[in-house]
Amino acid sequence: MVNKAPLLEIKNLRVHYKVYGGVLKVLDGVNLTVYPGEKVGLVGETGCGKTTTMKTALAILPVPPGVVVGGEILYKGRNLLAMSPRQLSNVRGREMTMIFQDPMAALNPVFNVEQQFTPVLKHAAKNHLSNKEIHAQAVLALQDVALADPERLLQAYPIQLSGGMRQRVCIGMALATRPQLLIADEPGTALDVTIQAQVLRLLNNLVDRLNTSIILITHSLGVVYETVDRLYVMYAGNIVEVAPTRKLFSNPLHPYSQGLMDAVPKLSGGGISQGISGRIPDYSHPPAGCRFHTRCSHVMEICRHQKPPEFEVEEGHKVACYLYGPKNQEAAV
Ligand SMILES: Nc1ncnc2c1ncn2[C@@H]1O[C@H](COP(=O)(O)OP(=O)(O)O)[C@@H](O)[C@H]1O
Ligand code: SF4
Ligand SMILES: [Mg+2]
Repeated sequence: MVNKAPLLEIKNLRVHYKVYGGVLKVLDGVNLTVYPGEKVGLVGETGCGKTTTMKTALAILPVPPGVVVGGEILYKGRNLLAMSPRQLSNVRGREMTMIFQDPMAALNPVFNVEQQFTPVLKHAAKNHLSNKEIHAQAVLALQDVALADPERLLQAYPIQLSGGMRQRVCIGMALATRPQLLIADEPGTALDVTIQAQVLRLLNNLVDRLNTSIILITHSLGVVYETVDRLYVMYAGNIVEVAPTRKLFSNPLHPYSQGLMDAVPKLSGGGISQGISGRIPDYSHPPAGCRFHTRCSHVMEICRHQKPPEFEVEEGHKVACYLYGPKNQEAAV
């Protein structure tokens, strides 16, 4: 991985929301990198800023209330935040696509499945596709996601499909354009746990086969463990730790990551924060210094005033916590 140029590099991204009565300082300098063909996971409690990060990366952050206050999003070295709408549309929906938590919200209820595919495929092919070609590609896309009888399915409306089928249709649409990067934001969360696991497994096999890079956001740490190469842990608008997945599970360093991992045996499709008391801070007045300090049992004086930098404890394993700074390293082991 290290020798390749990154596909996507999010650098020091800061995003606020201007809302009635104040400013929510949500993203506080997010750094995240994806290499070609790599599978990356992003975990953290609801409200940590995962969706905000990904929407900003795809330039679909609602502005207002969202404001990008600082940072860069480099796709193949080019800053997406500085692209014209025309340049952006060459990337978004063609090279980079996204699937969301709720397939029903992504599908238009008044169109049948084929009509949903049409604009997606047309956009990807810059309108150089006949109706016959669109039909053929849509059939292939439905076969990709193991949906039987695609010809009949293309004529169906979203309401006629089960939740699992709708999610498969969305995955098929997101991958039909053969993107280089797929951002999957809690896919299948609206489904029951068994169907969700099936859908995630299918998604994983498909991106393997197509060699698509993926950023997978999910509450299922079991799925993350089985599927992604590297894992990012996010807390209150910051990446607090990143490491190869197995390493992060076997040796989580940040107190927040340790809390998440402690919660694993208790997981049954529920939240991921049972291991940590307290809650995400109020973004209109986030804590100074380390944003986790209000919940951390290891808090030190410096944590209350100064934001911890990232310390690389071994190659590829970085953690933003003073316990691992040069002075404290011995005490922390
Ligand atoms: N459209 C919005 N308007 C105002 N605030 C928002 C909006 N979307 C998100 N936020 C704020 O950003 C925080 C992070 O949200 P989000 O990125 O959706 O987190 P996650 O995906 O990790 O659950 C929320 O807690 C909320 O305070
Ligand atoms: S920097 Fe301090 S408050 Fe933050 S996680 Fe580390 S020990 Fe806890
Ligand atoms: Mg979200």
